[in-house]
Amino acid sequence: MEISKVGVLGCGLMGHGITQICAQAGWDVVVRELDSEKLDGGDAVRGRIQPTLDYADLTDCDLVIEAITEDLGLKLEMWKEVDGIVKEGATFATNTSSLAVIDQAASTSRPDRFCGMHFFNPAQVMPLLEVVQTVTTSDETLEVAFGVGKRLGKTTVHAKDKTGFIVNRLLVPYMLDAIRAYEEGVGTVDQIDAAMKAGANHPMGPFTLLDFVGLDTTKSIADIMFDEYRERRFAAPPTRKSGKGFYDYSGEEPVPTELGL
Ligand SMILES: NC(=O)c1ccc[n+]([C@@H]2O[C@H](COP(=O)([O-])OP(=O)(O)OC[C@H]3O[C@@H](n4cnc5c(N)ncnc54)[C@H](O)[C@@H]3O)[C@@H](O)[C@H]2O)c1
Repeated sequence: MEISKVGVLGCGLMGHGITQICAQAGWDVVVRELDSEKLDGGDAVRGRIQPTLDYADLTDCDLVIEAITEDLGLKLEMWKEVDGIVKEGATFATNTSSLAVIDQAASTSRPDRFCGMHFFNPAQVMPLLEVVQTVTTSDETLEVAFGVGKRLGKTTVHAKDKTGFIVNRLLVPYMLDAIRAYEEGVGTVDQIDAAMKAGANHPMGPFTLLDFVGLDTTKSIADIMFDEYRERRFAAPPTRKSGKGFYDYSGEEPVPTELGL
């Protein structure tokens, strides 16, 4: 199906970026939120973006991407509304980081037209799009999702519906191992970051990355992955709740807090 109008659910960290790149790609976009505060943010390509509080405005979307709060109950409630309103033949996608895509797909009347479209933060900058196929996702739906990735200029990679997909499955244990290495005294926060930048040619070290993703977000993803796989590599190290990241960004240069999780 040719896409001309995209619906985005949620205008938070991810949803606003997905809205912006879809409008920049030339599509009309309806973005639905719970209250108008988040919708007033504004974008350069605003002309193509229709902010709304009303599900009914999504009716004629060809593609609907959800980026609402990472809570299965809330997502299922939302799909119940959206499934009953959006035209037949439209494709549905979830941007979930850690929930099983099939649970959302199976709650709709069109599990064949449902896939994961996992963007990375910030969606305007990060080149990857993971397209997640469940056991019910049709080839036609995959084709639509890959077409969208191409139009958005993303590197689009196919992944199966296994918790963490590709990137988080590999990245989360790496970040957790960095914390364990620090706790075991292998190196300080800035030494470990410097080592991984210079030794593995990573653009940022694991602690900078942890701060970037957010420690609470990383912990909740790790907990879900641990529940699924029951392996130590996904177990979040005991947390020292400091309310701070690994670096303090208040000055000109980030300074390690040495407190972390
Ligand atoms: N933060 C990341 O780095 C990241 C990366 C990739 C994927 N994700 C996924 O994207 C999704 C959103 O994450 P986020 O970080 O943008 O969260 P966020 O909390 O910044 O945004 C979620 C937004 O959804 C809104 N919302 C809740 N219920 C709604 C509904 N029924 N209709 C419309 N809006 C609703 C909330 O008001 C909130 O503004 C999650 O599934 C998350 O796993 C997050």
